Amino acid sequence: MSHADDHGGTRRDFLYYATAGAGAVVTGAAVWPLVNQMNPSAKVQALSSIFVDVGGVEEGTQLTVQWLGKPVFIRRRGAEEIEEARSVDISTLPDPIARNDNIQGDVPATDENRALDEAGEWLVQMGVCTHLGCVPLAEAGDYNGWFCPCHGSHYDTSGRIRRGPAPENLPVPTAEFVDETTIVLG
Ligand code: FES
Repeated sequence: MSHADDHGGTRRDFLYYATAGAGAVVTGAAVWPLVNQMNPSAKVQALSSIFVDVGGVEEGTQLTVQWLGKPVFIRRRGAEEIEEARSVDISTLPDPIARNDNIQGDVPATDENRALDEAGEWLVQMGVCTHLGCVPLAEAGDYNGWFCPCHGSHYDTSGRIRRGPAPENLPVPTAEFVDETTIVLG
């Protein structure tokens, strides 16, 4: 059995990058290169943890960092964004699964199951479109969340796919606060 078979999150990552190589690329759009196609072992992943100082991130803005060769969006959401994310009827979502590596199993895609903290101020997610791997733009699209210009996927303020060809919500990586202003990824 390969690592791709026995680890759900890794397997999904593998699929994104495997499909990214097959798609047409729209000129001018930001496309993340095909990297990390081989699944890192759990040991390598543990060694790859990074600490991110989020003390300077203003409300309503996001920080993009690179982790394991991929962009990660760390967003400090404003009250309106949180309210929008939490008022959605999850039965209407194209992908009903939270896709959060911090929670075991396929739990529902409520905003509470995706945000890093209970109040929902912080949302950490991979900045890789689940369609063919482009990097979505923040504060854009029909749902005021993220918009992928490559083929028109609209994500909401919780990073959930709402419209367009992307099949899944933006994945939430393993992350936690280790002190008031530091998030560790991995
Ligand atoms: S890569 Fe196709 S919509 Fe994002």
